[in-house]
Amino acid sequence: MIYINNNKEFHLTNGMISYICRVEEKTGVLEQLYFGSAIPHQPTFDYLIEREIRPSNNFKKEDHTSSLEHIKQEMPMYGTTDFRYPAVEVQYPDGDAISHFNYSNYRISNKKRKIPNLPTSFYDEAEAETLTIVLKDRYSSLTIEMDYTIFKDFPIISRQNHIVHHDDCRYQLMRFMSMSLDLPIDDCDWLHLDGAWARETQVKRDKLHSGLQQISSTRGASSHIHNPFFAICEKSATEFQGDVYAFSLIYSGNFVGQIEVDTYRISRVQMGINPYQFSWQLEKGDVFSSPEVIMNYAQNGFNEMSRNFHAFFKKHLIRQKWASKERPVLINNWEATYFNFDESKILALAQEAANLGIELFVLDDGWFGHRDNDASSLGNWQVDKRKLPHGIRSLSQKIHEKGLKFGLWFEPEMVSMDTPLYQAHPDWIVGHPQKNISHGRNQYVLDFSQNCVIDCIFEQMDAVLKACEIDYVKWDMNRYISEAYSVSLGKQRQGEFFHRYILGVYALYEKLLAKYPDLLIESCAGGGGRFDPALLYYAPQTWTSDDTDAIERLKIQYGASMVYPLSAIGSHVSEVPNHQVARMTSLKMRSDVALFGTFGYELDVTKLSQREKSQVKNQIILFKKHRTLLHTGTFFRLQSPFNGNVCAWMVVSENQTEALIGYYQILAEPNPPYQRLRLKGLNADFDYTIWEKEQVRTGKDLMAVGLIFGENYIDRASDFWQRQMAGDFSSKLIYLTRNKMQG
Ligand code: DGJ
Repeated sequence: MIYINNNKEFHLTNGMISYICRVEEKTGVLEQLYFGSAIPHQPTFDYLIEREIRPSNNFKKEDHTSSLEHIKQEMPMYGTTDFRYPAVEVQYPDGDAISHFNYSNYRISNKKRKIPNLPTSFYDEAEAETLTIVLKDRYSSLTIEMDYTIFKDFPIISRQNHIVHHDDCRYQLMRFMSMSLDLPIDDCDWLHLDGAWARETQVKRDKLHSGLQQISSTRGASSHIHNPFFAICEKSATEFQGDVYAFSLIYSGNFVGQIEVDTYRISRVQMGINPYQFSWQLEKGDVFSSPEVIMNYAQNGFNEMSRNFHAFFKKHLIRQKWASKERPVLINNWEATYFNFDESKILALAQEAANLGIELFVLDDGWFGHRDNDASSLGNWQVDKRKLPHGIRSLSQKIHEKGLKFGLWFEPEMVSMDTPLYQAHPDWIVGHPQKNISHGRNQYVLDFSQNCVIDCIFEQMDAVLKACEIDYVKWDMNRYISEAYSVSLGKQRQGEFFHRYILGVYALYEKLLAKYPDLLIESCAGGGGRFDPALLYYAPQTWTSDDTDAIERLKIQYGASMVYPLSAIGSHVSEVPNHQVARMTSLKMRSDVALFGTFGYELDVTKLSQREKSQVKNQIILFKKHRTLLHTGTFFRLQSPFNGNVCAWMVVSENQTEALIGYYQILAEPNPPYQRLRLKGLNADFDYTIWEKEQVRTGKDLMAVGLIFGENYIDRASDFWQRQMAGDFSSKLIYLTRNKMQG
């Protein structure tokens, strides 16, 4: 998959994509030539070089023809003839930041480099190859190793950079992007996922303008505000057509994703750790590794982009034990009880849940210390005997006896003021001891850049987990970091805090999973405040949003599906009026939306009427029937809730013999226009039975003509006054199977 011409041109290709870069002789830098659909290998790619000498450029000494300002580069740096943002910036002992990283050598490997406590994609030897290009600084002995991994079955290349220190001087790394890519495109749009608490992953599409545009986080977590993902697309690109270049960063901390459109129509695309408030001191022997970025090229629009991400993450990122394993139907007591519960209430919920066919009971916040509200007890992971007099072990056994698995909520990174931990260890709290330390939700952040803090929390969690019969953990995180400071880091190293913090989070995940390898972990950060690929590596599912309203969830789940597979999208049926927006929606609508995710319930099932209980039972039967299809099939977004009154999506099994479609009408329309929903991903030559309509139609027909929805409103069989109206917030599920009669 990796071709090399004359030790100076590198062509990574797998039949779907080509990525070409070369060593530029005059300047010694690595020059980008092409990224896009696969092109045949050639003995030379010289013809791809674009060069123009322009007035007002700076040139290196004794040279009048090459300015880095018009060379597309793979690792641009400060202090050259290029004025655009660099990918690497190092401060030297003299205080300057002038560097020049020249090509030195390369190597190829089919083994992935493993970096302790930093999640990256993984692969078997036959599935991918990594080209490492080594650059050497002209002014020091620093080297940069740039890993490019090309995967056999995906139009995806990952990039990760490592800077290696070899001498006795001290250098300060100020900026170190995971990737810099100069693409010759500017007349494009870019798409990203913006949001806030309770309205995460809202799809935003903007026109690229000249100059800088970026998404980022400075909050210590990837954040609700921007997901660490963006895509650049042709203006005419849609869900099903057009070129899309998409980038997803395997990182949960402060990140930046930016596009700098220059005056020569080159878009410099960068992604990596946010340089804001970042610096890293390099000492002899140190290697600093950037997070890995996934670069995904799709020729046929956003659906193809998402399918690439979904399949790639399942195969190369999510713990294999859980990647394709069926996710249990869960009940979570949060919206049913909040902090107000006792053992008998929990057991009553669990009993009813078991009767309904639910498989996992999750005890959420409030089981420890004396946490009756959010101002108390985080960091004191001792069971609250007032609420659970027989302890967690006994509770977990009783829940198991009911035939349910047992899960428990933790918020490991936080501490409340009223705990022994807070009193004993003010030095373990993030913030400057002589300055203001803000609280968020009444809580303070533990300094996970210190190993002793991680060990203490691990020991506390371990004591609980080993004492009970545990199947699942929900790892929550409910505030951002505002005054970053660690008393354990010296003056020179405060700029390392944010990155060290997130490495500490990963370290605790590693420790837990080393001891409890079968544990299913669901990550959460006040909903989707840390929904990112790095946490997917440890926690195969994420609580997508604290907003459980079915209508809001259409947008949130639609947006999340841009990057993340359905098996990762935590989705529950909750009660009405909805606790976040007070909206009333039917039980059917709520379930039809939650079904396209991990699926569970988050309401007091003991209070349901008999009619509702039997409805819930049937919903669970339905989910179990389709679970394999939903979690292993191919997902297609069909109609966007961001563009109108209808949302639709579908999942098709890998062998194309079955499909499930979710169709949602937001508001009822009087005398509505006809609706045809063209399906995707079916086999054109198969006959399919549409169970809800008792029709048999060919795949070709369903994809060309589509399902006809006009008859929903006025049923052909009944007269106008007798008609059944779906009304506001209504949904339909449509199930297709390949007709067995067919040969
Ligand atoms: C925020 C989470 O998103 C909720 O699901 C719940 O676990 C609460 N925290 C508990 O405090």
